[in-house]
Amino acid sequence: MNILVVGGGGREHAIIKKIKENPDVSTIYALPGNGGMEEAVCTGIGATDIEGIKNFAKNNQIDFAVVAPDDPLVLGCVDELEAMGIPCFGPEAKAAIIEGSKVFSKNLMKKYGIPTAEYEVFTEAEAALKYLETAPIPTVIKADGLALGKGVIIAESREDAMTAVREMMQGGKFGKSGERVVIEEFLTGPEVTVLSFTDGNVVVPMVSSMDHKRAGDNDTGLNTGGMGVIAPNPYYTKAIAEECMEKIFMPTINAMNAEGRTFKGCLYFGLMLTPNGPKVIEYNCRFGDPETQVVLPLLESDLLTIMKAVRESKLSETEVKIRNEHACCVIMASKGYPESYEKGFEISIPAEIKDKVYVAGAKLSEGKLLTNGGRVLGVTEKADSLKEAIDKAYAAVEKIHFDNAYYRHDIGARAMKAAAEV
Ligand code: AMP
Ligand code: GLY
Repeated sequence: MNILVVGGGGREHAIIKKIKENPDVSTIYALPGNGGMEEAVCTGIGATDIEGIKNFAKNNQIDFAVVAPDDPLVLGCVDELEAMGIPCFGPEAKAAIIEGSKVFSKNLMKKYGIPTAEYEVFTEAEAALKYLETAPIPTVIKADGLALGKGVIIAESREDAMTAVREMMQGGKFGKSGERVVIEEFLTGPEVTVLSFTDGNVVVPMVSSMDHKRAGDNDTGLNTGGMGVIAPNPYYTKAIAEECMEKIFMPTINAMNAEGRTFKGCLYFGLMLTPNGPKVIEYNCRFGDPETQVVLPLLESDLLTIMKAVRESKLSETEVKIRNEHACCVIMASKGYPESYEKGFEISIPAEIKDKVYVAGAKLSEGKLLTNGGRVLGVTEKADSLKEAIDKAYAAVEKIHFDNAYYRHDIGARAMKAAAEV
């Protein structure tokens, strides 16, 4: 079987490695892929180049396609490939809107009674600014559309909130994505990510995880795309999982069905465990990055089989077995990320740990693997305990070299503390 994977980051590398375990898979094409994906043929075709993706698929006898990133999903890449007769894993555009529009997802939750932060929607800057004159502070400003993960501002003061609104609604900071904004209640509590498979009938959560979004140790510094992740998340107890299934997961699937927007694919629940119970912070219409780099190594069952079952609405008949282990992924970034950084340094990864490395920002040049992005790669280790998984992941990090490498030293530390308390 020939498989096409749209995307080119660490998440896609994890998906490719996992799909490659299926003995029926012959070639995996990555669009665009990156220089570190030895398991795939990397094509360089951009993930949002829908015409380019369609042409490539037409000429390469693709048996199954996986569309991983948010932009092509929201742009309707799955709809287009399916229309050509290529079976796909991923939601259609009308379902991907659950991530593509925060106004849509907030209104969906309100309509169907799914717990989330209180909010108001604004289409005019003046009305938003007026509302902020008396809104409780801190407050949270969210651009309606996709904004490369940067469209959420936690404003600690009225002034910051107003600046954020002005930048988004009047300054065009996120283009069309910022023309409408959601202003919502600031919630507190531990955050949990739950990635789930759903075929529109049932929802099958994978292992929970804990992302580390800030650039610096002890959750200091700027927000990033994620500097590391552990799984399972110790805050996510069995009782909370049951509550989430009943109050959040199934109601979301049912709501999407009721709206005529059946969601098939991986639905990402970004949750906050507030003093008033679990609430949805965000939905994503796809696997998370870097969460996928711990969740898929802990998935024992065959990924391609599950993906096909999701598409064919046979998920309830398909085994989704999760390993009873812990995993830790440490991201190695370029010094300076998420602001400016240098690229082009040679990366050395010893052969014995290559299967644990998920490459993101790297390119091949004259046979050498060079850094080519902010988040360069992630290293994931599994073990029977979280402590062991963390220690092993950092031992592997020590074996990988490139100039200006930067990583956090405390991935999993908060989870270790929580595990002792929960
Ligand atoms: P997002 O880009 O939607 O993942 O949001 C980025 C981060 O902002 C989340 O991971 C939360 O830490 C934080 N956040 C989003 N919404 C809220 C909220 N209503 N209250 C507190 N924190 C929030
Ligand atoms: N880790 C957050 C995301 O994938 O959006």
